[in-house]
Amino acid sequence: MIHSLNGQVALVTGGTKGIGKAIANKLAEAGAQVVVTARTAPKETASGQYFIAADLAQPAGAELVAAEIREKYGKVDIVVNNAGANLSPGGGFSTLADEHWHQDWQLNFMAAVRINKALLPAMIGKGSGAILHISTVAALQPIWEMTMSYSSAKAALNAYSKALASELGPKGIRVNLVSPGVVRTPLMLEFIEQIAKSSNMTSAEALKVVMDKINIPMGRMAEPEEIAATVLFLVSQEARYITGANYLVDGGALPTV
Ligand SMILES: NC(=O)c1ccc[n+]([C@@H]2O[C@H](COP(=O)([O-])OP(=O)(O)OC[C@H]3O[C@@H](n4cnc5c(N)ncnc54)[C@H](OP(=O)(O)O)[C@@H]3O)[C@@H](O)[C@H]2O)c1
Repeated sequence: MIHSLNGQVALVTGGTKGIGKAIANKLAEAGAQVVVTARTAPKETASGQYFIAADLAQPAGAELVAAEIREKYGKVDIVVNNAGANLSPGGGFSTLADEHWHQDWQLNFMAAVRINKALLPAMIGKGSGAILHISTVAALQPIWEMTMSYSSAKAALNAYSKALASELGPKGIRVNLVSPGVVRTPLMLEFIEQIAKSSNMTSAEALKVVMDKINIPMGRMAEPEEIAATVLFLVSQEARYITGANYLVDGGALPTV
């Protein structure tokens, strides 16, 4: 196996569905012991994986996850901050109340800040580790009608990730971002359904609106496994000289380099 993670403990937040589930499976296949978190337990936990229930939009969630990892494994080598979602309504600035901004920032930004803060002392103590943040191309190319507060929170995540990589490079810990474009996950399918409902369209018409708006040269959504493959590379030893980077996995959607 090229990317062996034998003997490593990996945390994947939001690891029960969509991109997070694909990442958890990929890291487990590579030999890692994988801890997955979500608010709701999955029907079954895959072999090589351990589930912790926690709401990471709440400050207590991160400490609960970190305490259980410390008790069960005594260490963590890889942290994938994946839990996230566009929680706010579309329509631009005037539709966004303080509570919308707050909930988008809690889940898409503060959850990662808190998880890292709780787990980093142990990683720094052993002088190695990899942190991976799942962002979005919408952080670099916000769509005002659809993603204003979500894009802002993820853009903050990008800046934080870069700053953390600079701080932790000398301590042997790498920090990177993966920014997907449009991925076929429960979250994305729900988002398309919401557009269909609010605009009185069929699901196929709503999907076309999203695809036209984003203009993906490869002409299709990504599958979650295509994001997970890049994550596996970045957290593995094959990427040992890569830190502070942002890998776009978007089928060419972002029109700049
Ligand atoms: N899908 C896309 O097209 C796309 C594109 C760009 C970026 N992304 C990013 O990729 C990441 C994953 O998205 P996805 O599409 O795979 O989402 P998804 O299918 O909705 O899965 C989200 C996962 O996060 C968990 N989660 C949600 N809210 C949580 C909370 N408050 N506390 C703890 N866990 C929570 C969910 O489980 P529970 O609901 O049980 O908590 C689930 O396991 C997100 O950061 C998203 O912003 C997605």
